[in-house]
Amino acid sequence: MTLTEQNRKRYLQAIGLPLWVPRTRDVQMQTLYPEMLNTQLQNDINEPAINTTGISTNSFAKISGLDWPELSSTVASCTACDLSATRTQTVFGVGNKNSDWLFIGEAPGAEEDKQGQPFVGRAGLLLNAMLFALGLKRDDIYITNVLKCRPPNNRDPKPEEVSQCEGFLRAQINLINPRVIVALGRHAAHNLLKTDKTLASLRGRSHDFHGTPLVVTYHPAYLLRSPADKNKSWQDLCLAKTVVQQ
Ligand code: URA
Repeated sequence: MTLTEQNRKRYLQAIGLPLWVPRTRDVQMQTLYPEMLNTQLQNDINEPAINTTGISTNSFAKISGLDWPELSSTVASCTACDLSATRTQTVFGVGNKNSDWLFIGEAPGAEEDKQGQPFVGRAGLLLNAMLFALGLKRDDIYITNVLKCRPPNNRDPKPEEVSQCEGFLRAQINLINPRVIVALGRHAAHNLLKTDKTLASLRGRSHDFHGTPLVVTYHPAYLLRSPADKNKSWQDLCLAKTVVQQ
């Protein structure tokens, strides 16, 4: 078992030590600081992983080899962040795993947490209507969220939660290999594109997500509050359809 530079950094971050601490063999680290390492992190160290987002138990390198059943059961049993303590269940994603279309929202809400499916509340009804207008049914697309667990009281996702879920989402994207990703709302857009630009400035064009075109549009929950922007969202979906057809 070798201690890679990357894992060394994550190890040091996890135990609160500055990164200039001299390189030490992982066996020595485990001897020195066993109580400071959670089991998940130790597993991660045993299986070196590449991840650019900091400490992530569910690093993409580790997750990316999984097939659908393995990925879904890994998500269902994930306890990598505090959201596992408050969720009713994980919300993995639903739809056509061979679809050209992948819609990505922010995180499950109360109804999704209860039913275990994404976008089944009021925002989901609006999304269904928009899909219908595009000539699509729910079964024609795949839909998931950046986070697989509900943040309590629907608060914004925390960066460390996004980081833990990122490998899951990247693995889903790889397995589906869609022709277009539609990022629903600011949080999905920011987390996927690693930017904090306004949604208004991100919409209206196709971005690149690791080789897959990505179109940004308003979140259906926002459109319920601001119906005047439905027209812009429709333009975004038409752009996404053009991308699919190219
Ligand atoms: N909002 C989201 O972003 N995702 C859901 O699944 C439901 C509401």
